Amino acid sequence: MAYRLPSSEKTIQLLWLCFFISNLLDLAHADADNPPYKACSNNSANSQFQNNLEIILSYLRSNASVSKHYNTFTGNDLDRIYAQYMCLNYETNDNCRKCIAAALEVIMQLCPEDKEAIVWEETCQLRYSNQSFLGHLDVSGNMALDNKEDLENPAQFILVVNETLNDLARQVAFNSSTNMYATRKVAFTNTEPLCALMQCSTDLSPDDCNTCLRIAMANISSCCSASRGGRVLSRSCYLRYELYAWYEGANETSESPPVPGKSNRRTIWIIIILTVAAALLVVGILGSLIYCHAMRNGKE
Ligand SMILES: *[C@@H]1O[C@H](CO)[C@@H](O)[C@H](O)[C@H]1NC(C)=O
Ligand SMILES: *[C@@H]1O[C@H](CO)[C@@H](O)[C@H](O)[C@H]1NC(C)=O
Ligand SMILES: *[C@@H]1O[C@H](CO)[C@@H](O)[C@H](O)[C@H]1NC(C)=O
Ligand SMILES: *[C@@H]1O[C@H](CO)[C@@H](O)[C@H](O)[C@H]1NC(C)=O
Ligand SMILES: *[C@@H]1O[C@H](CO)[C@@H](O)[C@H](O)[C@H]1NC(C)=O
Ligand SMILES: *[C@@H]1O[C@H](CO)[C@@H](O)[C@H](O)[C@H]1NC(C)=O
Ligand SMILES: *[C@@H]1O[C@H](CO)[C@@H](O)[C@H](O)[C@H]1NC(C)=O
Repeated sequence: MAYRLPSSEKTIQLLWLCFFISNLLDLAHADADNPPYKACSNNSANSQFQNNLEIILSYLRSNASVSKHYNTFTGNDLDRIYAQYMCLNYETNDNCRKCIAAALEVIMQLCPEDKEAIVWEETCQLRYSNQSFLGHLDVSGNMALDNKEDLENPAQFILVVNETLNDLARQVAFNSSTNMYATRKVAFTNTEPLCALMQCSTDLSPDDCNTCLRIAMANISSCCSASRGGRVLSRSCYLRYELYAWYEGANETSESPPVPGKSNRRTIWIIIILTVAAALLVVGILGSLIYCHAMRNGKE
C-alpha cells in the first residue's frame, strides 16, 4: 500500500506530461501546416483603436451572413480602421459565414494590439488596417504553400500548370463577366485532373488584379514548381491548384481537353516532317533504282 500512492501519482504525472507534449506537438504542427495563417504589422495600437477594432469586427460578423465579400471603415482620423473580408467564391453563404466567424475568433489573439493584420483560413481571409487599402494592390507578405508529394512527370506538369494559370489569369483579370473569379479543370492523367482556381479582391482594377496574379504565379514557380499542388495567399488575390477535385463543383464541371503544350505541337510537326522526308527518300531511292535498271537494260 505504501508504494501505490507515489506510483499512481507518477503515472498521473506521466499522463499529464504526455498530454502536454502531444498538445505542444499539435500546436507546432498547426503553426506550420494548417490554417489560420497570419501576417501582422507589429505596430501597437492604442485603446481607442482597440475599441474601434471590436466594433468593426462586429460589423463584419453581421455582414458575413449576407455576403461573401465586404469592406467598411469606422472611427475618426488617427483611430480610423478599415476592414474587409473575402470568401472563396465557390463557398456557400453559410460556409462563408462560418469561415469568417473562425477568422474573427482568432485575429485579435494572433495579432494582439496590432494596427494592421490579416488572417487566412482555409476558404476565406479577414483583414484590417489603420490605412485605407480599398482599391490598392498589396502583395507584401504573400505566402506560398505547396503540396510536396512526388510527381511522375514534372516537366509536363509544369508546362500544363503554366498554360492553365496563364489562361486563367487572363480570364479573371480582363473578362468582366468572371467577376474576378474563375476555376479550371484540365485532364492531366487518366485519374488525376489538374484543378486550378484564381480570385482577386473585386475592388482592384483589372490591371492590378493581373499584376497580383502574375506575382503569385512567380512566387509559386520560384518556390514550388515541381510540387503537385501549390497555393499563394496574398492580401489582394488568391491562387491554388491541385491534382484532384478540391473545390466545390470541380466534380460536376466537365474537363477541358488537355492543354496542348508548345513542345507537343513541335513534336507533332517534327514527326510529320520526318515522315514526309522518309517517304520522299524511299520514293527517290526506288525511282533512281528503276531509272538505273532501265538505263542498263537500254544500253545492253
Ligand atoms: C512581427 O513579429 C513576429 C514575432 O515577433 C515576427 O515573426 C514577424 O516577422 C514580425 N512581422 C513584421 C511585419 O515585422
Ligand atoms: C453591415 O455593416 C454595416 C456597417 O458597415 C452595418 O451598418 C450593417 O448593418 C451591416 N449589415 C448587416 C446585414 O448586418
Ligand atoms: C498607421 O500606423 C502606422 C504605424 O503606427 C503609422 O506609421 C501610419 O502613419 C499610420 N497610418 C495612418 C493613415 O494613420
Ligand atoms: C510560363 O509562361 C510564361 C508566359 O507565357 C513564360 O514567360 C514562362 O517562361 C513559362 N514558364 C515555364 C516554366 O514554362
Ligand atoms: C468570359 O467569361 C464568360 C463566363 O465565365 C465566358 O462564358 C466567356 O466565354 C468568356 N469570354 C471570353 C472572351 O473568354
Ligand atoms: C512574391 O513575389 C514578390 C514580388 O516579386 C516578392 O516581393 C515576394 O517576396 C514574393 N513572396 C514569396 C513568398 O515568394
Ligand atoms: C470529388 O470526387 C472525389 C472522388 O469521388 C472525392 O474524393 C472528392 O472529395 C470530391 N470533391 C469535392 C470537392 O466534392
